[in-house]
Amino acid sequence: MEFADKVAVVTGAASFIGSAIGSQLVAAGARVVLGDLDDKIGGDVASGLGASARFVRTDVTRDADLDVLIDTAVAEFGGLDFVVSAAAVFVDAQMQTTREQWHHALDVNVIAAAMLIEKAVPHMVQRGSGAVVIIASISAKHSQPNRLVYPVTKSALLGLARNSAQLLADQSIRVNTVSPGWTWSRNIERRYGSRERADSVAAEFQALGRLAHPEEIADAVLYLLSDRASFITGTDLAVDGGYAAMGPEALGQAFEKIPVIPSEGVRP
Ligand SMILES: NC(=O)c1ccc[n+]([C@@H]2O[C@H](COP(=O)([O-])OP(=O)(O)OC[C@H]3O[C@@H](n4cnc5c(N)ncnc54)[C@H](O)[C@@H]3O)[C@@H](O)[C@H]2O)c1
Repeated sequence: MEFADKVAVVTGAASFIGSAIGSQLVAAGARVVLGDLDDKIGGDVASGLGASARFVRTDVTRDADLDVLIDTAVAEFGGLDFVVSAAAVFVDAQMQTTREQWHHALDVNVIAAAMLIEKAVPHMVQRGSGAVVIIASISAKHSQPNRLVYPVTKSALLGLARNSAQLLADQSIRVNTVSPGWTWSRNIERRYGSRERADSVAAEFQALGRLAHPEEIADAVLYLLSDRASFITGTDLAVDGGYAAMGPEALGQAFEKIPVIPSEGVRP
């Protein structure tokens, strides 16, 4: 019960990653207010978590909705200690992206996280400390095929965390990002159909040979929220199965072209 007496808001809570975060927070003793555009799934997730969870239908691009999300935490559970921002859209027409699409993606993926932090800070200050985790992505630091907008928004989140961490450190509020690699999600299911197929695609570039389980992302989030991470702020934690550690050679194409000198060893 590491988080007994703690209260959290989580956006994007209808996603597999968001619901795993909500579920693990409750299992660790916290009370949570879950926000998402999808009220059917979000409501079901909250009901499954019992009396320690509430769901508030939230469009994170609307300040009034973010206010209700935070006010619910304070009114129902007495305060606010943690913020987790996981809502995202994947709109990305690459070089054909319209200004309107850029605005929407930046609004959901970046500005909403910034506004959520701004609105949460006074409540965390009242508690004497707080912690924020923003879900970024491996896309924040690496280009990906057929993508432009989404990676730009995820890169911006690393800057948001770094700079918010500086601004809020003297109020004992820590801000970090978690960057998942390919993780089992509705988004991946929409694109690849089955988990088996997605696992086999991810196996090529995630050294551990599979997608992440949503719970593995949640584990990292809970660690960064906890006092075990009390000296960690303004940083990014990759939970990517080795994606960022692999260079292009790891895919194997160049392997046969690399000469092996016998005195230096043999090919494995
Ligand atoms: N799945 C992956 O491989 C992966 C990898 C890296 C990062 N992520 C990140 O994980 C998070 C969850 O994404 P996912 O992959 O599970 O996809 P997803 O589409 O299942 O989840 C996104 C969630 O955001 C919600 N949302 C979208 N617009 C919203 C709005 N305006 N207001 C409130 N909620 C809104 C959706 O309803 C949905 O529940 C995102 O931040 C995503 O960028 C996912």
